[in-house]
Amino acid sequence: MNKRRLLITSGLPYANGAIHLGHMVEVIQTDIFARAMRMMGHEALYMCADDTHGTPIEISATKRGIAPEQLIAEAYESHTADFKGFDIEFANYYSTNSPENKELAYFIYDKLLKAGHIREQVVKQLYSESMNRFLPDRYVKGKCPKCGAPDQYGDCCEVCKAHYDALDLAEPHCVLDGSVPVVRESHHLFVSISQLSDFLRDFADSDALLPEVRNFVKTWIDEGLQDWNISRDKPYFGFEIPGHPDKYFYVWMDAPIGYIASTANWCKKDGEDLDKYWRSKDTEIWHFIGKDIIYFHTLFWPAMLKVAGFELPHRVHAHGFLTVNGTKMSKSRGTFILARKYLEVLPAAYLRFYFANKLSTGVDDIDLNIEDFYFRVRSGLIDNLANLHNRSFSFAETKLGGKLSTARFDDDCRKLIADAKARVLEVADDYAELNTAAAIKAICEIGNAANLFYQEKAPWAYLKGDNADPEMARAIVTACAEVVRLIAIAIKPVVPDFSAKIFAQLNIGDQNLADLDNALGDNNVISNVEKTYIRPERETFDALVVEAPAEPAPAAATLPGEEKVEETKVAEIERRPLKELIDFEDFEKLDIRVGKVLACEKVKKSNKLLCSQIEIGHPDGPVQIVSGISKHYTPESMVGRYVLVVTNLKPREMFGLKSQGMVLAASDEAGLELPMTLLRVPGAQVK
Ligand code: MSP
Ligand code: ZN
Repeated sequence: MNKRRLLITSGLPYANGAIHLGHMVEVIQTDIFARAMRMMGHEALYMCADDTHGTPIEISATKRGIAPEQLIAEAYESHTADFKGFDIEFANYYSTNSPENKELAYFIYDKLLKAGHIREQVVKQLYSESMNRFLPDRYVKGKCPKCGAPDQYGDCCEVCKAHYDALDLAEPHCVLDGSVPVVRESHHLFVSISQLSDFLRDFADSDALLPEVRNFVKTWIDEGLQDWNISRDKPYFGFEIPGHPDKYFYVWMDAPIGYIASTANWCKKDGEDLDKYWRSKDTEIWHFIGKDIIYFHTLFWPAMLKVAGFELPHRVHAHGFLTVNGTKMSKSRGTFILARKYLEVLPAAYLRFYFANKLSTGVDDIDLNIEDFYFRVRSGLIDNLANLHNRSFSFAETKLGGKLSTARFDDDCRKLIADAKARVLEVADDYAELNTAAAIKAICEIGNAANLFYQEKAPWAYLKGDNADPEMARAIVTACAEVVRLIAIAIKPVVPDFSAKIFAQLNIGDQNLADLDNALGDNNVISNVEKTYIRPERETFDALVVEAPAEPAPAAATLPGEEKVEETKVAEIERRPLKELIDFEDFEKLDIRVGKVLACEKVKKSNKLLCSQIEIGHPDGPVQIVSGISKHYTPESMVGRYVLVVTNLKPREMFGLKSQGMVLAASDEAGLELPMTLLRVPGAQVK
């Protein structure tokens, strides 16, 4: 095998807020990739850090009456504890407010200066006289210069979407103290990025970008790149610019340099050479980022690396944003889920498993649908993989003294193992291509096949009666244990705790892809069997989303960031007149019941319809209902679900299938949802 060396990073979280599940999408994707690469025998270092500079941090600290250094130290404690809770394995987690970062920022700035890419220009900006500071766009509000909408930020209008200069806002006021700002001039430093357009076009065309991202970047270059202002006036928390007292590097100037600084700090501790990682063609640099920061990572950042003589990224991988139950995370809807809160409620492995199910190479948003989350964890991780482990290992330990043997393997045993092994090799390719969704699918199929094998071979039957044949039972259980071992290797990047428990109960050390052929045999003993996961309650998952408390959130989290604001307004309610009123007798004609979905499949040749078998408590047994919900629910996520059913609609035929009623759902522009029911008895009447 060709051993690769990879330096892997994810976007550096801002120190002015807590880690939330949006961050975790990225960090989990990155960690799975890095762990998968190590599992495959490559050297893969995951470097990250807190992004500590900028106006919001300086203002938060001032408001709390503490030094910014204290604020970022608290954030560092909290962020690293959260990541530890989620089993994230960094080579180093550092800070952009570090001596290494300062030195590297000065070095790169000097290179830009000497190459003639920096120019000075006087800029007019809004200034608060009450606070003695220039106001970044997100700290002023006023009337939109285009459409006149009140209460709009200084960069763009949420009503008409226009982008404009804060100076053009009508009736501007400062969001911090309501004062009316004045216009002041100050000189600033700009990177003339357009001088590097040709280089950037080549970079965009390279394999570093996947087609979807490449298209964005080329459009930006074609539209013409604006020079980039990298200076900010005091007060600011950051690095002072050499030769320009009271001016600081804009946070986005030194933030990505934090990737190198974190590596430099690790090199120091490990006696390694930084050039081996950042100035060598033998290292692949992989950046994982959200789609909101593509601009910085595909234009400014490669330009800085190029001019300073560092290697360019091998891949800039952008992912979509996390939505919860179909809509943007929102504090008021209780869907802005903090990492800390999650860890109080559920094991980290469930979220790692769920995100792995959903992640692939696209920039589409990723939805955490609580029902889907529950069903996938239960059907994939608990009832399939963990169950296979538990039933085969417990049986081996309690009935066969834990001893394994391949002596009585038959063709079925050999085939089960050979098939599983072939699929594990496919899984490795899936990880390498960042297609974790495919990896999980394949692993679950391996598990399904082995569960079926266990069920059909029924090892317990060989322990009974006059013709008992315990050695055959041992062969069956050994084959299953071997598949469990293969699964543990394959799924280790996603749920390392699961794999570690299995290796321990098998009394073998940690295993990797290179151990694929080190099959279990007559020398292996299973002991100290314990369940990997306890089957979770549905209610625990629901507890993730709770209405926000009435009191305001801590200052740091609610301050408008210079860079972006996470919160959205609750959608406007669409008001519609009622249909004609009906009599109570008309209502009574409806037979609405709670139904339980027993089975569900896609309707062939239709991309909208699912066909479900639903128990409604009718004497003739379950009914069949065809519903247009396949864009919102997978057949697997329907099974076991309780739904509201109008049961006495006259049957009709759709796509050649009889439909005996209607499943009730609620929908708006954000999507469609099946209402949850409290009654969990099929057939219960709804009144
Ligand atoms: N500090 C900058 C990144 C500097 S990188 C040199 C930043 N910080 S952030 O805390 O806002 O976000 C950190 C990373 O998490 C970014 O890649 C961002 O895209 C990602 N996400 C933040 N919120 C997210 C979601 N809701 N969903 C998915 N990813 C999200 O940007
Ligand atoms: Zn407007």
